[in-house]
Amino acid sequence: MKSGDFENLIDGKMISEEILSELKIEISDFSKKSRPPKLTVLIVGEDPASQVYVGMKVKASSKCGIDSELIEMPGDIPEETLIERLKRLNDDDSVDGILVQLPLPDHINEQKVIETISPAKDVDGFHPYNLGRIISEKARFIPCTPKGIMELLSRYSVETEGKEIVIIGRSLIVGKPMAMLLSAKSSGANGTVTLCHSRTKNIPGIVSRADILIAAVGSPGLITGEMVREGVVVIDVGMNRVDDPKAKKGYHLEGDVDFSSVQPKASLITPVPRGVGPMTVAMLMKNTLQAAEWARGDGDDIQ
Ligand SMILES: NC(=O)c1ccc[n+]([C@@H]2O[C@H](COP(=O)([O-])OP(=O)(O)OC[C@H]3O[C@@H](n4cnc5c(N)ncnc54)[C@H](OP(=O)(O)O)[C@@H]3O)[C@@H](O)[C@H]2O)c1
Repeated sequence: MKSGDFENLIDGKMISEEILSELKIEISDFSKKSRPPKLTVLIVGEDPASQVYVGMKVKASSKCGIDSELIEMPGDIPEETLIERLKRLNDDDSVDGILVQLPLPDHINEQKVIETISPAKDVDGFHPYNLGRIISEKARFIPCTPKGIMELLSRYSVETEGKEIVIIGRSLIVGKPMAMLLSAKSSGANGTVTLCHSRTKNIPGIVSRADILIAAVGSPGLITGEMVREGVVVIDVGMNRVDDPKAKKGYHLEGDVDFSSVQPKASLITPVPRGVGPMTVAMLMKNTLQAAEWARGDGDDIQ
């Protein structure tokens, strides 16, 4: 049986396609008044996974009417060259959104690069300015993966208010903003969040309390059926390449959740692939449209 055959599945692929169709109409209207939104994606080096992700972003852009530009830089470029390029893009009025595909080669300071991107064009939402606005509940750009998860919870009418929400993984791009969004004092949030990480003691005990469980670790099959309670809503962010000589590409993708043992106990569960991943790309498109709208004066000023 394929994961797509289960009734309790959260179909991120289908929802992301719905969102892209909705966006196509919005972007077409927007483009009539102005020019189409433009997203510039920079990739440094030839990491195969990064190439795939960048390809998906460029393809989604053309699907919904966003102009995209791909800038490919060699893996050995000096950090300063990348920084200078970003500064020029910050000053270029024809560019609405800038994204640097991560990870970067070891000789480049990722945080410095993130902080060089203008917060007004930071469609990944990783700049401290944008992360800070989430904490103050005045979010502008929300990182695409947590934003996509909020959208999935909303579209599947998952009640979060007063619920025990357990998030595993405290990265700046997934776990931490996710915790802030779900504990915000607002509808669609108001959850009681526990944020776990590699130093957390008794993860199984904490996970067993979860009404909603979000796993963003990078460890295949970490969460098993015996750890979760009946009726739990499970969001599996993990995207792990597992060697598989039988697969065409020599690997297959697995989440952080052991789907076969957790799915029967869950009320709703995202598969991997076709779960959170496509939502991340759809939210990037949403953020790019927002960047273009704000750049044309629809929203308060940011630098
Ligand atoms: N689907 C998507 O669109 C999407 C987007 C982004 C990421 N991902 C995937 O999501 C996963 C996490 O990504 P990330 O960027 O957030 O990863 P990350 O920066 O490596 O963070 C991993 C987090 O997991 C924690 N952790 C590691 N081992 C653990 C364990 N055994 N028990 C509990 N916590 C543990 C780490 O704790 P410490 O902080 O203590 O080190 C850290 O907080 C990866 O598989 C990634 O590929 C998917």
